[in-house]
Amino acid sequence: MDAPPASAGRPTKATDATGAADAAGPVAAHAAPAVVARDRKAHARALFAPLPRHYDRVAAALSFGQDPRWRRALVAAVDAAPGERVLDVATGTGMVAQELVERYGCEVVALDQSAAMLGGARARLARRADLAARITLIEGEAERLPLADGAFDHLTFTYLLRYVADPAATLRELARVVAPGGRIASLEFAVPPNPAWRAAWRLYTQLGLPLLGRAVSREWAATGRFLARSIPDFYARYPLERVLELWRAAGIEGVYARRMSLGGGVVIWGTRGGPENRGGPRDGERGGDREDGGRGGDG
Ligand SMILES: C[S@@+](CC[C@H](N)C(=O)[O-])C[C@H]1O[C@@H](n2cnc3c(N)ncnc32)[C@H](O)[C@@H]1O
Repeated sequence: MDAPPASAGRPTKATDATGAADAAGPVAAHAAPAVVARDRKAHARALFAPLPRHYDRVAAALSFGQDPRWRRALVAAVDAAPGERVLDVATGTGMVAQELVERYGCEVVALDQSAAMLGGARARLARRADLAARITLIEGEAERLPLADGAFDHLTFTYLLRYVADPAATLRELARVVAPGGRIASLEFAVPPNPAWRAAWRLYTQLGLPLLGRAVSREWAATGRFLARSIPDFYARYPLERVLELWRAAGIEGVYARRMSLGGGVVIWGTRGGPENRGGPRDGERGGDREDGGRGGDG
């Protein structure tokens, strides 16, 4: 990894990402915290190592085309200006980074801990000189960003918190690198709050997703099985209301949650607080939890 030091005011281009995937292994619920944290990280690395090749298309297909729509909603929540600097954490193959550049003409630093997924992002940039001119790839960990305090105007992260050992600490670390008044926005899967839709969702994630994944590859079948456990496990530990509390505790103000696609996805966004908060909530916005216009449920 060749990432800028924590003292750098502005990130620089990273060289090729390196590092092989660690061995996969189940996270033992009874294990000591340090062991759980190591296993969770090793598992995330191993899980994504074989996926980048067809990631974009398969992710869209397995979510019935909803995943790109959720990503667009995430990017719309950022409201960046041309030339502003946005950090996209857990960028994977760089789909959010691409959407940010195309929508706002901003500069994006795209960070991920998976060398393999960054390889997919690198292939994207090789095909698109306009994106390569505005996107810088960095291999790094969300828990320890190799970036200076307040170095970014805004920050996005996607499908991240299920993979980290301490979501509260990770959120604080993400907020640290955003300047006061900057937007922070995330996208994550969720469990539909409506019992009927939840039952259908369970059926799909537990049976349909692994089966459809198997039609693609052994690795996607394993990913399908993993998601069927990982999403409800996360919300059992961190119901949506609790996640929103963690955002506020990390110094993020005016926090909204928008459930999408009957609750299968959730976009959360807020504004980095601070003494010199440049804007606070934007016009017409007040802090609160929203479920496509209503109150957020428990995810
Ligand atoms: C489901 S993919 C999401 C990729 C992409 N953002 C998208 O829109 O689909 C999750 C990504 O999070 C990355 N990731 C997981 N834990 C991470 C961590 N602690 N630090 C940095 N990246 C992480 C994985 O390597 C993977 O590329």
